[in-house]
Amino acid sequence: MATDADISRAAEILQGGGLVAFPTETVYGLGADADNPAALARLYAVKGRPADHPVIVHVGEPPQLGDWAADVPDAALRLGDAFWPGPLTVVVRRAARVRDEVTGGGDTVGVRVPAQPAALALLRAFGGGIAAPSANRFGQVSPTTADDVRADLGDDVDLVLDGGPCSVGVESTIVDCTGDELLLLRPGGVTRECLEEAAGRRVGTRRDGLVRAPGTLKSHYAPEATVLVVGRDDVAARAQELLSAGQLVAVLGSGTPPSVPSAVVVFDAPRDADEYARVLYARMREVDQRGIDVLLAVPPPTAGVGAAVADRLRRAAGRGEQ
Ligand code: TXA
Ligand code: MG
Repeated sequence: MATDADISRAAEILQGGGLVAFPTETVYGLGADADNPAALARLYAVKGRPADHPVIVHVGEPPQLGDWAADVPDAALRLGDAFWPGPLTVVVRRAARVRDEVTGGGDTVGVRVPAQPAALALLRAFGGGIAAPSANRFGQVSPTTADDVRADLGDDVDLVLDGGPCSVGVESTIVDCTGDELLLLRPGGVTRECLEEAAGRRVGTRRDGLVRAPGTLKSHYAPEATVLVVGRDDVAARAQELLSAGQLVAVLGSGTPPSVPSAVVVFDAPRDADEYARVLYARMREVDQRGIDVLLAVPPPTAGVGAAVADRLRRAAGRGEQ
């Protein structure tokens, strides 16, 4: 686990233009000084991400939103008050000083205050904003442990801060606060119902893809294995079919595990949507490590973080469709 000395070292590395992977409550982030163009260039290179895709700026204190925004809409303030530190990113109009490398050249910026203690300690020691996408290579499954980060990025990252497994397990909720209507760009740890209650108004869904957000591409968040989203009643038949075709099959779902042929790997059923979110990416990784061909996933009910789990499963299943 990260010590005070690790935090100080991490802050120094960032100040020197280096890359630090750090835990957040959602997934691990790959961090760079959001004001340092050379560090940001390296971040994009390591991540393997197209330069026109924006990254989220992480800050240690909610009022720092004002350092990055041209103006802070009332709704963004309310959401920050309600959910920060926490798994929420607000998209606001960028301040003039925000680098194009952060915004992907667009006129908005995403900002969040994470709730993980080591992340907050790092942000407070560093002082400025840390630009951080999830600490995986572009298009791969997000890391939820320090070991996942090391396995993905190896020596390409200067330091990996270990904060243990992430408590939420799927990425932050992203809300576009730049227009008249609040728009949910990505479901996550903060549910739409909670957003609507805190904002005191409806939160719509952006469907036109005007803002480039790789996390909203169809084939994101995917393991090597094929992911099929199935209903509980169809699991056994699908598993049998795939086995007969010579495929290695695993099943992940909530509730009582379905009765399937013994050759099928049946993961422990998550107790509820929160646990499903926590284990989802670890299971996707395990599926690949075990050389499984097809993961049959029964999504949890869509209440709470279940909506985010269902979203990620759909995207994992969309692999190859675009
Ligand atoms: O939970 C999280 O949000 C994690 C942790 C590390 O904080 N970060 C994360 O970053 O998931 P990333 O880059 O893997 O996904 C962020 C998503 C991307 O789809 C990006 O395009 C979108 O947020 N995004 C960032 N800035 C944006 C902006 N100004 N407008 C619209 N989308 C934006
Ligand atoms: Mg990501």
